[in-house]
Amino acid sequence: MILVCGGTKGGVGKSTIAISLTILRAAQGKDVLLVDADDQGTASDFTAVRNETLSDSSGAGYTSIKLHGAAVRTEVQRLAQKYDDIMIDVGGRDTTGQRAALSIADIVVIPFLPASFDIWALEIMSGLLEEAHAFNDRLKAIAILNRADPQGKDNQEAAAVAKELKSLTYLDAPLGNRKAFRNAASQGLSVTELRPKDAKAIKEITNLYEKIFSIAN
Ligand SMILES: Nc1ncnc2c1ncn2[C@@H]1O[C@H](COP(=O)(O)OP(=O)(O)OP(=O)(O)O)[C@@H](O)[C@H]1O
Ligand SMILES: [Mg+2]
Repeated sequence: MILVCGGTKGGVGKSTIAISLTILRAAQGKDVLLVDADDQGTASDFTAVRNETLSDSSGAGYTSIKLHGAAVRTEVQRLAQKYDDIMIDVGGRDTTGQRAALSIADIVVIPFLPASFDIWALEIMSGLLEEAHAFNDRLKAIAILNRADPQGKDNQEAAAVAKELKSLTYLDAPLGNRKAFRNAASQGLSVTELRPKDAKAIKEITNLYEKIFSIAN
């Protein structure tokens, strides 16, 4: 399966989610390729830290490469036969790399925050998805709430806007705004590996993982 963490908004959790899903998938014994299609190199930097953190054991547990622009399409198509799953992390803008990823993906996960700028960005993304669907009818587009508030109506309001958008589906699997996600990332780990454990963060990311892979299959 080819999964993209996408969207045209920066800083919404694309890399965090791409990395987490990669680690959870690899932990299931799958041979996973993480493609860093963002020139910022977040996923690659993360993997370098991870390889150091886990240097005594098996290392990262997945393969990571960097790709840019149209090569995201051509190389991923070639590599798709060699891996069980490919996860692509793209930059938070409408780039050639993101469009290339959308043209070959089975699923795109679009995180958004419960804030108006993010919801507007989701509407813009919806237009980009309409174009992508014209030449990739396999593509399933899923929006998920990230850094959700502990309470209050902003989460529901943001989810309601996402539910209105035609070219994507709102998946009810929010991730809360939790320090554990940041702490895990800085150590090259997923929240499932972080100690001390944050049970809520683990439950949220596991729920997201299970829902996404049940849609994908
Ligand atoms: N659920 C969460 N709770 C707390 N912090 C989070 C959560 N998700 C992401 N973050 C933090 O928010 C910041 C942005 O996340 P991330 O880098 O994953 O976003 P991005 O969409 O990939 O950004 P960019 O567009 O720059 O690539 C990071 O510091 C990350 O650790
Ligand atoms: Mg990123």
